[in-house]
Amino acid sequence: MPAELIDGKVIAAGVRAEVAGEVATLKASGIVPKLAVVLVGDDPASAVYVAAKGRACVEVGMAESTIRLPATTSQGELMQLLDSLNADSTVHGILVQSPFPSQIDCSAVIRRIDPAKDVDGFHPVNVGKLMAGERDGFVPCTPAGIQELLRASNVATRGLDCVIVGRSNIVGKPMAALMVQDGPVANCTVTVCHRYTRDLAVHTRRADILITAVGRPGLITADMVKPGAAVLDVGITRIPDPTRKSGTRLVGDVDFDAVREVAGLITPVPGGVGPMTIAMLLRNTVRAAQRLATA
Ligand code: GUN
Repeated sequence: MPAELIDGKVIAAGVRAEVAGEVATLKASGIVPKLAVVLVGDDPASAVYVAAKGRACVEVGMAESTIRLPATTSQGELMQLLDSLNADSTVHGILVQSPFPSQIDCSAVIRRIDPAKDVDGFHPVNVGKLMAGERDGFVPCTPAGIQELLRASNVATRGLDCVIVGRSNIVGKPMAALMVQDGPVANCTVTVCHRYTRDLAVHTRRADILITAVGRPGLITADMVKPGAAVLDVGITRIPDPTRKSGTRLVGDVDFDAVREVAGLITPVPGGVGPMTIAMLLRNTVRAAQRLATA
């Protein structure tokens, strides 16, 4: 029997509806949650992501401001902008879209954002809180979204083997920290694989939950997946497809058609993990507004 699909669009719509309700409550008490999105340069993919984030804010009733800076922006100019957003009490969440032009020091930018407004969860204070199991920080949106998909799919995670392929700061590392901690939709035995892992299949075949975030189409084949496993695919790569009108299509890291015959649960690409990232960004922003309101 083919795996059941995890429908990220439906689950994300549920999170957005919940956020819209919380926004309405905040507005009734005079607070309009606001996200400031900063885009430096003209990377076309980043422009698409930033536009989607802005639209999503408006759809749930939040305010948003997208600040587009030229690719020639200096480190100092960006720092000044962040200082003014940190000081602006009408702004609750700040996000600087990556990648950055080469003259910008990415880690200095992340450190400059007030941790209480760091809705991406990338500031070392929030990274540390996640590692320490403290729940008052911000969790990066994609790992938080994957945890939400597992929750919505009623996966009883306690004691399961969770194997993560990819060790990025945005997905792999925070995902490992979330799944290993003591709490709901966690308590897993976690393995993190990366480019120097000696035999990837030895690890993936043990996974009850397999999460892949690499950006290499076809990396995960059916023989690498344990029968009945939950497979969550963060990879998103555009490949040529002459059968499509556009001439291209999006694929994940997983050989979807073949793995679907082995897995128990699987996310499609697109429409799986992707929609959750923005939904969790909205949730983090409304949390930031709630916390700043009661601080
Ligand atoms: N670039 C790719 N993913 C992300 C993300 O989640 N946040 C930010 N700020 N930049 C990104």
